[in-house]
Amino acid sequence: MSDRSHTEILRSEFERAAENFSNRTKGRFDKLGVVDFSRVDDGAKVLEVGAGTGNFLQLFAGVAGQLVGVDLTPAMLNKARMAFPEMDLMVGDGARLPLGSGSMDLATTAQTLHHVWEPLPVLKEMRRVTAEKGRVLIVDQVGTERYEEVLAMNELDVMRDPSHASSRPPSALRTLLRVAGLRIAAERIVDEEHRLSDWMPEVEFPEDRIEKVKGFIDAHGDATGMNFARVGDDYIFNRRRMMILAERA
Ligand SMILES: C[S@@+](CC[C@H](N)C(=O)[O-])C[C@H]1O[C@@H](n2cnc3c(N)ncnc32)[C@H](O)[C@@H]1O
Repeated sequence: MSDRSHTEILRSEFERAAENFSNRTKGRFDKLGVVDFSRVDDGAKVLEVGAGTGNFLQLFAGVAGQLVGVDLTPAMLNKARMAFPEMDLMVGDGARLPLGSGSMDLATTAQTLHHVWEPLPVLKEMRRVTAEKGRVLIVDQVGTERYEEVLAMNELDVMRDPSHASSRPPSALRTLLRVAGLRIAAERIVDEEHRLSDWMPEVEFPEDRIEKVKGFIDAHGDATGMNFARVGDDYIFNRRRMMILAERA
């Protein structure tokens, strides 16, 4: 798929999702202890690539001196602007950051790399804009290390949201960081139980898509490694997230 058509799909999905996105995802990072994990210093300049409606970047509000967000979807940033007027927000692509080299102390990206087909240019850009003693923080959903399970998980994720590119196994994220010139300083994997009805609320997703996803779960849910279990009309499942803190190698 060309980069251009994926960007169009991504913008149209997130334009539709923007209204409900912040509500649906509120609190999803609360248990991760992201700020402590990032080792960020008081007064730091913190960037988020794929800042969306700003909920993740806002976690750093108590410690950062400046919060900078870059995102491809204007509708998502408009929501962030309304909620967090003190943030510096720019429409842009993570693969071509509109920022000077070495200008940030901490470059983060949360729940965004799995929307990117080619994450290496984004990681290299995050490294470029990070100061020599700065750090890069990745938070993203990951699959298992079983190839077939990751394929099935991605088939389901793309069915739910066509702007999804690929969730990767933890080993792939580690390799990508190393190739981007980053050295891993810390990592953590966190499993959380979710409900399909919260993941695909009727206010945000077309009904036929919800039905298609339910059909896929009934037929292939066991193959995804996400531990789907039916609860009445709903399903519970496991979402695995990985946090990686890295330094310039
Ligand atoms: C799932 S949302 C996550 C938003 C926010 N990080 C959060 O967790 O609340 C993904 C965001 O990444 C943005 N995005 C995807 N690819 C991008 C890229 N290459 N450059 C900048 N933003 C991107 C999308 O527009 C969307 O707003």
